Amino acid sequence: MSESVSIAFFDTKPYDREFFDAINADGYSYNFRYFENRLKIETVPLADGCRIVCAFVNDRLSTDVINKLKSLNVELIALRCAGYNNVDLRAAYRMMRVVRVPEYSPYAVAEHAVALILSLNRKTHKAYYRTRDGNFSIGGFMGFDMAGKTAGIIGTGKIGKIAAKILRGFDMWVLVYDPYPDQEFAKTTKVEYVDLEELYVKSDVISLHCPLTHDTYHIIDEESLGKMKDGVMIVNTGRGGLINAKALIDALKSGKVGAAGLDVYEEESEYFFEDFSTQVLDDDVLARLLTFSNVLITSHQGFFTREAMQNIARTTLENIRDFLDGKPLKNEICYRCGQDVCKKKETGRCF
Ligand code: NAI
Repeated sequence: MSESVSIAFFDTKPYDREFFDAINADGYSYNFRYFENRLKIETVPLADGCRIVCAFVNDRLSTDVINKLKSLNVELIALRCAGYNNVDLRAAYRMMRVVRVPEYSPYAVAEHAVALILSLNRKTHKAYYRTRDGNFSIGGFMGFDMAGKTAGIIGTGKIGKIAAKILRGFDMWVLVYDPYPDQEFAKTTKVEYVDLEELYVKSDVISLHCPLTHDTYHIIDEESLGKMKDGVMIVNTGRGGLINAKALIDALKSGKVGAAGLDVYEEESEYFFEDFSTQVLDDDVLARLLTFSNVLITSHQGFFTREAMQNIARTTLENIRDFLDGKPLKNEICYRCGQDVCKKKETGRCF
């Protein structure tokens, strides 16, 4: 029965098709309808005839979109990503089910965060262009020893923990913050849970690995930046909305922030994953960020490794198969707290 099921894939690129087609041919035979379009109210009709919609980070699953999908008899939203801040879970509750890929390669994202830190520190991204131009001077490229410096990790889930371990490997001191501390991890990795204030005050490098929620929206703003060390490096591979970009620009201008590595940007859905090289960039905030020589922006590529793509395709199709077979959905997101494994069991509260 499930073989004839049609699945509408939004915001797809050739690399998505390559990995999904390969897994589909290896034990599934769903009917994929790939669309390059992002999912938004205008593109919902493309899902007509599909029980399942497969969406990515920049698809907008607002209340309107969910209602319109429901009117087309869509039953399942299968996110092929970990973050779910783009889905109105409350609207989806009792209308359709939402699954995600909670873990595909936390290493991919953590390693990318560290790549940003290393590049910004030693300016390898700039050295690449300088030497290709026959300029072998090293002025302006001086960095610092990572050993002995302090890194602050906000969010010690799957990705944050790996980032912390890698940075410990550089002999850095690692301070971590998470509302749900894992003291066993702290003990074995030799990192220290502190409150946010202390993390801000003591860290030379701050890396964001928490989800975007009501609590974490603009967690990096004028106030938190004001508490940080002068010249602090900030790296964001979490979600763009964690940082108030205008406050970051002010802090870069004043020298408060010494460097910023951004794999995500609050208004990224307009640009990231697309080629705008022959067009005028009309986002003044993004354009300004791109002018700083101590800002390194990558366009949401933290997840983008071969291993991660394979895992994303495999878990997404497993989620879909479980749904079609009427099995429990282990990667379903709790609409109340947004966790796939609801923390209510551990903490007595969902939010
Ligand atoms: P996870 O769910 O394993 O860990 C998130 C951690 O953040 C949890 O320990 C949670 O308790 C903590 N947290 C929740 N509220 C917090 C708060 N207010 N302050 C500090 N910590 C808080 O998630 P995972 O897999 O580690 O991913 C983290 C984030 O990375 C995702 O939410 C997603 O936004 C982002 N991500 C980015 C990718 C990229 O390509 N750049 C790819 C995958 C994920």
